Amino acid sequence: MDSATIARAVELLRAGRLVALPTETVYGLGADAANPEAVARIFAAKGRPADHPLIVHLPGAAWLEQWAREIPPLAWELAEDFWPGPLTLILKRAPGVPDAVTGGQDTVGVRVPAHPLALQLLRAFAASEPAPGTGKPGGGLAAPSANRFGRISPTSAEHVRAELGDAVDFVLDGGACPVGIESTILDLSRGPDFPPRLLRPGAITPEMILRTTGVEVEVAGKAATTDAPRVSGSLSAHYAPRTPLRLLAASEVDAAIGEAARAGRSIAVLRRLPEAGQTAELLSLHTRWLPADAEGFARELYAALREVDALGVSLILAEAVPAAGEWAAVADRLRRAACGAGA
Ligand code: TXA
Ligand code: MG
Repeated sequence: MDSATIARAVELLRAGRLVALPTETVYGLGADAANPEAVARIFAAKGRPADHPLIVHLPGAAWLEQWAREIPPLAWELAEDFWPGPLTLILKRAPGVPDAVTGGQDTVGVRVPAHPLALQLLRAFAASEPAPGTGKPGGGLAAPSANRFGRISPTSAEHVRAELGDAVDFVLDGGACPVGIESTILDLSRGPDFPPRLLRPGAITPEMILRTTGVEVEVAGKAATTDAPRVSGSLSAHYAPRTPLRLLAASEVDAAIGEAARAGRSIAVLRRLPEAGQTAELLSLHTRWLPADAEGFARELYAALREVDALGVSLILAEAVPAAGEWAAVADRLRRAACGAGA
């Protein structure tokens, strides 16, 4: 991106305004994380409850100590292995991190995004830091997904504009997001006696973390949903299209289409292509095909949900995907889309 555009975005951020930015996962709605008034604007623009904490995006791991304290060795190891990348770490927060960012909790979520434009913006923002000595942490942009609360995360600049319109001061257009679903969230804040805990599945899987660090991640079970709303994605009405969405096993889809046709119901169908590398007419007869592999499926999922949601049908039928391994994060988002829509 040309430097004048980045300079303009930095100027707005320094003035406490909102700048939407592409990341490798989804678009974020960014504000100066050290400025509580700027952060308050995020909540207003999204219509999000104020006790939901935000992720702080940093230009590099070198900024971590300004935002977190008691950083365990595993955090540095994970930063080394996976940053820049789609992994958010929950750590004890440093003094000076505004309550507005953490939802008043003693922890803070941080990550270094892998998108070149996000990194360009973060570096320029950090370089524009006013003289040090203010006691405030620096270089951090608080950025939740740039959608209205409870809606599908945006994976293109057009999605952001459709979601937020004038509520965002500037949109940096970096094209379509290559990962397509939100980052993995890992809680490392519980102290040395507890294993890291998965709060949100994403492209970085527990299997990958085990492979590179030898550490076993605790995958939060159902009990975790009775906690305070630490991860807003754990609320059922999240990532949801407006149209009711029903999840079906692949073997049930044809029968369900027939049944809907007999009942005179207008439907759209989200299906997974049977073989890798296969292509199909992307949207034909209201069937939106998604790639056979988990990575490709994730990349296109939110755009596909928006497309079928816009068709004006009364029901979306979606083919379920495997629940484990590299498919876990996609299966999680599909389940939430089905929950939120109440079908
Ligand atoms: O991929 C992503 O993570 C995207 C891009 C923009 O970076 N961001 C994103 O932000 O998904 P958001 O706000 O839509 O989701 C962040 C999640 C929320 O569910 C929030 O509750 C959780 O992170 N979170 C943030 N700080 C936390 C904390 N201190 N403890 C527990 N959960 C936290
Ligand atoms: Mg979100």
